[in-house]
Amino acid sequence: MKDVYILAIETSCDETSMAIVKNGCVVESFTVLSQMDTHALYGGVVPEIASRMHTENITLVLEETFNKSSISIEQIDAIAVTYAPGLLGSLLVGVEFAKTLSFVYKKPLLAVNHTIGHIYANAIDHPLQFPLLALVVSGGHTDLIFMREDYHFKVLGSTLDDAIGECFDKVARVLGLTYPGGPNVDKLAEKGQPTYALPKPVNDDSYHFSFSGLKSHIINLVHNEKQRGNEVRKEDLAKSFQVTVIDELIRKVELALKRNNVKEFIVAGGVSANRHLRAEMKKLADAYQVKFSIPEIKYCTDNAAMIGAAAYPLFLKGEFADFSLNAKSHISIDEKENNEN
Ligand code: KG4
Ligand code: ZN
Repeated sequence: MKDVYILAIETSCDETSMAIVKNGCVVESFTVLSQMDTHALYGGVVPEIASRMHTENITLVLEETFNKSSISIEQIDAIAVTYAPGLLGSLLVGVEFAKTLSFVYKKPLLAVNHTIGHIYANAIDHPLQFPLLALVVSGGHTDLIFMREDYHFKVLGSTLDDAIGECFDKVARVLGLTYPGGPNVDKLAEKGQPTYALPKPVNDDSYHFSFSGLKSHIINLVHNEKQRGNEVRKEDLAKSFQVTVIDELIRKVELALKRNNVKEFIVAGGVSANRHLRAEMKKLADAYQVKFSIPEIKYCTDNAAMIGAAAYPLFLKGEFADFSLNAKSHISIDEKENNEN
C-alpha cells in the first residue's frame, strides 16, 4: 500500500502544534510553539490570550513544519485537526485553519478527539495491542479506559471533580511554584521525603477518582502553618502529595488489571511526563505481565504528532469530516454515551 501522509494540527489549549505523520506511526516533521511563558505571567492559561496567540502563530508553525520536511503540501493525503475537547476559542482557530487548507488544497479532512490523540501517542512507536487498558492523566482528564479494539472506548472510571493535572497545578501554586506546576512539583518532590500524612482520595472499589479533598487539605495545611509562623517543608509536602495521588492511580489501575484480561497497559496525557508515575506504572505492568507503553516525554504533553497517529485509523476507515465541522469544548469518548466511534 502507498504511504499515507497526514498533516495534523493541534490548538486545543496553549500549544500551537503541527506534525506530518507517515502511516500513523512515523513522525516526519514536528513543531510545537508553546505559549507557556505568556500564561505563566497570569498563573494559568487565559483563554482569550490563547486563541489570539494561536491566530498569530499558526501560519508560522505551518511554514516551519514544511520547511523541516521533504514532503510538500501537495503530497499530503489528509488534514487532521483536534476539534474537541478543549478551549473553544483555541480549538476554533485550528478547525478553521484546517478547513481552509482542506478547501484550498482539496485534501480530505479528519476530525480528531484530543483525548483519543493522547491515547494514540502510544501508537507512534508500535501498533497498539488489544484488549488494552489506558490511563489518561492530563490537565483536563483522569480516565481509566478499556479498549477491546481500535477506536472502541469504554470509560471504566473518571474523576468526580478535579483532573489530576489541575490538582498538580493548584498544589504547585500554593507551594509558590510557577505555572505549569506539574513539572515543578515533580522536580521538587525528587528532593523530598513523604513525611506528611495526607488523606487518601477515594478509598473504595470503584474506578472513580477524586482529588479536590486532597487539594483543599494541602491548601489549608500550608495556610495554617503560615499563620502559626511555621515553615512548610516544601520538598517533603510535594513528595507526600505526589506519592498519595500516584498510590491512588496504582490502586485503581491494579483493580482494573485484576478484573480485565488485557494484553497491553498504556499511560497517556501531560501528567504521564511525571517521573515517579512513569516508574510506578512500569512496575505495575511488569507485575501483571502485560505489555507497557508510555509516550516519549515530547509526546506526553499536547502535540500534533499524537493527532496524526489518532487520525490514521479514521483515514483507513474513510471517516472524513465535512466543512460543517465545528469545535466542541466537551465531549465524551465513551461508546455508551455517544455514537461517534
Ligand atoms: O496533556 P496536557 O499537556 O494538557 C491537557 O490536555 O490538559 O497536560 C497538562 C498537564 C498540566 O496540568 C501539567 O502540570 C501536567 O500535565 N504535567 C505534569 C508533568 N508535566 C506536565 N504533571 C506532573 N508531573 C510532570 N512532570
Ligand atoms: Zn492534552
